[in-house]
Amino acid sequence: MSDIQRPVQRTPYDAGEDIGVNPSTEPTLVQLAERRLSRRQALRGMTATAITGALTPAFPSLEAFAQEFGPSTFTFKEMRQTYDGTHHVAEGYDAQVLIRWGDTVVPDAPAFDPRRLSAGAQSMQFGYNCDYISYHPLPVGSRNSDNGLLFVNHEYTNTNLIFPGIGEGRAARTKANKAQSEIELAAHGASVVEVRKAEGRWEVVADSKYNRRITGLATEMAVGGPAAGHDRLKTKADPTGRKVIGTLNNCGGGVTPWGTVLTAEENFNGYFGGDAEKTPDAALYKRYGVTKESWYSWVQHIERFDVGKEPNEPNRFGWIVEIDPYDPASTPVKRTALGRFKHEAATCVVNPDGRVVVYSGDDERFEYVYKFVSKGTFNAADRVANRTLLDDGTLYVGRFGDDGSVRWVPLVHGEGPLTAANGFASQADILIDTRCAADLLKATPMDRPEDIEPSPDGRRVYVVLTNNTSRRADQVDKINPRANNRHGHIVEIIPPGGAKPDHAATEAKWEMFLMCGKPGVDQGALYHRATSDVGRFTTPDNIAFDSRGRMWVATDGAPGAAGIADGLWATDTRGPGRALPRLFFQAPRGAEVCAPILTPDDRTMFVTIQHPAEEDGSTYETPSTRWPDFSSDMPVRPSVVVITRKDGGIIGS
Ligand code: FEO
Ligand code: CA
Ligand code: CA
Repeated sequence: MSDIQRPVQRTPYDAGEDIGVNPSTEPTLVQLAERRLSRRQALRGMTATAITGALTPAFPSLEAFAQEFGPSTFTFKEMRQTYDGTHHVAEGYDAQVLIRWGDTVVPDAPAFDPRRLSAGAQSMQFGYNCDYISYHPLPVGSRNSDNGLLFVNHEYTNTNLIFPGIGEGRAARTKANKAQSEIELAAHGASVVEVRKAEGRWEVVADSKYNRRITGLATEMAVGGPAAGHDRLKTKADPTGRKVIGTLNNCGGGVTPWGTVLTAEENFNGYFGGDAEKTPDAALYKRYGVTKESWYSWVQHIERFDVGKEPNEPNRFGWIVEIDPYDPASTPVKRTALGRFKHEAATCVVNPDGRVVVYSGDDERFEYVYKFVSKGTFNAADRVANRTLLDDGTLYVGRFGDDGSVRWVPLVHGEGPLTAANGFASQADILIDTRCAADLLKATPMDRPEDIEPSPDGRRVYVVLTNNTSRRADQVDKINPRANNRHGHIVEIIPPGGAKPDHAATEAKWEMFLMCGKPGVDQGALYHRATSDVGRFTTPDNIAFDSRGRMWVATDGAPGAAGIADGLWATDTRGPGRALPRLFFQAPRGAEVCAPILTPDDRTMFVTIQHPAEEDGSTYETPSTRWPDFSSDMPVRPSVVVITRKDGGIIGS
């Protein structure tokens, strides 16, 4: 474990992006007085900050919520809060490192040698900065909880922690040479690895036929849906507009009912540079944050990242990509019908009428929440029949009313303002420029939508809004009720239909689930009043549900300077323990916790540790932690951690 002490500062890799580029965020004309909830009402069941003018939300279910306080269903002993060089889990649990950056994925990959990296080796080894995980039981269609496939995203690279002698922080990224840039591209993408539990301990199956690397460097992808083959997707290397090399900045994701993965391309804009303003699409690039200044050095070495030379290449990223982990020879497909934006996740539910609904958020300040409804229906009897289900359907964007209503507005060519007169010549234009279309539909600008996920019974959909410090007091509304929202909140969407929730409906309702921060300190913080000091968290990011519908929340942005690491909290979503989070797991310093995911039997949980040692001053030579190897000749390594109960029981209780 590292004992290096330095002031804890973290400049997130996407900090430059966080300013938000949505120009349509004029003040919402709402009276602040309407936002205030009476202190008496708030204190009945939940704690709230009693700052004058506190923007506590007046959501409809508060009275019921207030009467429900009581004990959590989780029985693990809550942890102490830490901030140090390693990970920690609640008493009675094991948290074992399963696979690390550089470990073998494809059989016969060279052994990891951090001083002799190559793009070829990296293309066979586990990639960098793992994020989303899905677990796919073997064989397909089973509920096997002891043997399956892990699909793992590799979102981005920390150049300063990968290469010796390149310096620290974001500046290091623009110093990589061509060979290093190609290594970074190979470290992006995803991994598929077979895992199994043998004598109570999880291991990677080294010689599995399923093991596969998907990279930003070389994996060929097809394009499906209405924008496939469109002129704005064509490049010199691909005059068909149907064949893209690689996937980038894969953040969250989801699993389809037929067992494929939907992986979300998020901050794709940061890889591109060059003379964006001189291209015909300059205004559109601006709306997506593609600027002259690339975050990385790839633009200096690889022509397709220079929009002055290859103006359509950015249009080929920012999609949801469907990948079949059960078929290592399958070609991933970018599903354009789901729109192009900074997708955080893509979670599915089968509607009672058989149509498939996919929820996705656009993670940036003042961006929107979307859902896609397929035209065709899910065929449970024939996996292959669902292959193109996500190529045809309707994309909607969310409008959230102060009266607790949700209106899903369709993004359909020819309807409302989405016409040629406004620059949309076809549905393909709407999908390539989804943000611009949603602007015209007056979608509700949100506080950075991270994960969005339906509960297992489908009766509620949880939207995780991580933070938005740019929101001003004159821009608050009831669903984003705090100015300078540093801590985030979690909202529930309630589709109509009760026990048969209709996710295809164009109307729904919303309620506030919880508001993060520390009651008494942070304006508006709102939880079950039995929540402990360590149970309160900030900046929620990924969520997961166990089979009982209980929620696990991972965070990205805990205040390290206050001695609090990012981690994983567990909370009931209904009953007496609703909105009563308890601290279960903490990451090493500089890292966020991503995923999490449980096996079908709830006895194993997988989490990813992303960007450990991402702190000011960290370099390859002097990382703030050398987790997980703690060896002077090994760099810090993002890794997957598997959590089990020592007695083999159900995680959490
Ligand atoms: Fe990649 Fe929005 O987190
Ligand atoms: Ca995320
Ligand atoms: Ca994150």
